Amino acid sequence: MSNTTEVLASDRVVAPSPKGRMKDVAATPVPEAPNGKVTLKELRANDRVRTYLEAANRQMATIGYSEHGVRHAALVAAISRNILMGLGEDSHQAELAAIAGYLHDIGNCVHRIYHPQIGASMAFYILEQMHMDANDVATVIGAIGNHEEPEGVPINDVTAAVIIADKSDVHFTRVQNPDPSTYDIHDRVNHAVQKSHILIDSAAMVITLDLVIDTGQASVMEYFEIFVERMIMCRKAAKVLKCNFRLIINGVEL
Ligand SMILES: [Fe+2]
Ligand SMILES: [Fe+2]
Repeated sequence: MSNTTEVLASDRVVAPSPKGRMKDVAATPVPEAPNGKVTLKELRANDRVRTYLEAANRQMATIGYSEHGVRHAALVAAISRNILMGLGEDSHQAELAAIAGYLHDIGNCVHRIYHPQIGASMAFYILEQMHMDANDVATVIGAIGNHEEPEGVPINDVTAAVIIADKSDVHFTRVQNPDPSTYDIHDRVNHAVQKSHILIDSAAMVITLDLVIDTGQASVMEYFEIFVERMIMCRKAAKVLKCNFRLIINGVEL
C-alpha cells in the first residue's frame, strides 16, 4: 500500500523584508529554554541568528553563489522536520532536525570553505546560551557539521534528513546573479529547475526527489554534472533512514 506524502520542497519560503528590523541585536536578550528544550520557533524569533543568516547570504551573493539566507534556512528546516515526521519518527527528533536545518548554513557568514564545521561551532555557542540539553546540542551540531559533500556523512536520522532537505532546494528562485548573460553552469541549472518536490512513501520506505527542469535552459546532463555527488549523498542519507532514494526528472526516473 502506498502512503505517499509530499513535503515542503515545492513551497518557496520568502524571507521578509529587512525593513523594521534595524534594532540593536546585541541588546536582544537570549531566551532560555525551559527543561533544555529549544524550538525552531524560538530560533526564528532570535534576531542574532537572523543577522548571522543574512550576513551569510550577503557573503554568498558577493562570491556569486545562490541564495543561502533565511529563505533557504526556513525551507530546509521545514523539509527536514517533515521528512522525519513523514517516516513516523518522534516529534522531538523532528524538532532537532528542523533546528539543524535552520542553522545548517550559518557558517557561511565566516567563509564558504569549512562552513559546516564553522557553523556547528556557531550553533554550539547559540544553543548553549539558550541552555539546550547537551545531547540535543550534540545531535544538532553533528548534523550541521556533516551536511555538505564530500566530507559530510549521514551519521544519524537527523543528519540524513538535513542532507536530503538541503540538496532538494534547487530552484530558479535561488539564483542571485541579476545578469543572465554571466550565468555559470550552477546558475543555469538552478534557474532551469521550475519545480522541486520531495515525496515520502512511508509504506514502501521510498524518498523521491521529483524535479521539473526547463531543458531549454540547462540539459539533464548538465544537472548531473553538478549534482551527481549530491545525489549520491542523498542516496546514502536515505539508506540511514531505511529508505530507497529515487530521482525523477521531467517524469523520468533516473
Ligand atoms: Fe551548506
Ligand atoms: Fe544549504
